[in-house]
Amino acid sequence: MTEQNRVLIVDDELGPREALRMILNDHYDVSTVSDGHQALDRLSCTEFDLVILDIRMPGMNGIDVLAEVKKKAPDTEVVMITAYASVDTATIALRHGALDYLIKPFDRRSVLNVVEKGLSRRTSTRKMKSRLDELLLANKALADQIDCSIRNIQQHFLETVNSLVAAIDSKDSYTKAHQKRVVRFALALAAESRLSDREMGLLEQAALLHDIGKIGVPEQILRKAATLTVEEFEIVKQHPIIGAKIITPVQALREAVPMVLHHHDRFDGTGYPDGLKGAAIPLGARIIAIADAVDAMLSNRPYASAMTVDQVRNQLRLFAGTQFDPWLIDLALKMDLPSQRLT
Ligand SMILES: [Fe+2]
Repeated sequence: MTEQNRVLIVDDELGPREALRMILNDHYDVSTVSDGHQALDRLSCTEFDLVILDIRMPGMNGIDVLAEVKKKAPDTEVVMITAYASVDTATIALRHGALDYLIKPFDRRSVLNVVEKGLSRRTSTRKMKSRLDELLLANKALADQIDCSIRNIQQHFLETVNSLVAAIDSKDSYTKAHQKRVVRFALALAAESRLSDREMGLLEQAALLHDIGKIGVPEQILRKAATLTVEEFEIVKQHPIIGAKIITPVQALREAVPMVLHHHDRFDGTGYPDGLKGAAIPLGARIIAIADAVDAMLSNRPYASAMTVDQVRNQLRLFAGTQFDPWLIDLALKMDLPSQRLT
């Protein structure tokens, strides 16, 4: 047996209340109450599909009860009861969310039609809401899936970067630690130069990988304590090009390529690999060049001892406008340089 729709009749007058009950009783599960407060009490513990509500009642009037019903159970349909004299009030009720109104005395056919219309609208509304809930759930599942995929991609990307950094470390352990310090200083300098968050992200990748091309430079040259020969230096000069070639196939690193490729191009155009000059050198590459040099000067290297912070500051001043971007050097000189010598 299917469950009957529940209808609540609210009217302070016994006659109309019972007349409606008699009309609807054979088709629906009908309850009756005689005022608005009782109606709201019943609605707080029982779900009704439709409420038939007299407009003129002592105490709480029908319009106020309608507002409360729509607050408590917005899907419950409400039909108002009125006399000819107050059709205007019934029209106001329709604007407040009532489905229709019935005029006293009741016509059996009209009552059944209006109630049927209300219940059918409630069924459609519920179906639509249920479909909407399904769509929202499906949407959430899809969003979760996308989040999961993004996390996987980011994880793979981090693994790629880490394996590239590990590859450098296996060749020259100085380089790995150096790259991490360059990242720190480059980001600090970049923060002073007001790069966007996205540019900072790219710079971080490029700074970490700027010397990745040293994988292609023979170990005996990388670790050589004496001055390099011209031929050996020509080989070392290939490392930005090799680094750019290594990271170009990684889609997520594509935008970091120019910073890696040009981190040895000098501001005055005498650098390598392309001899780019001034603003033609990507800003990220100009920042990395300074961070790279600062860290190298503060470190003990096979061919030179670490400089003091004051010595490094003097070198930066000396090479502003030739090796380095003078605007960035002004910013760097206002920053705290690492005070300890690095090994
Ligand atoms: Fe380099």
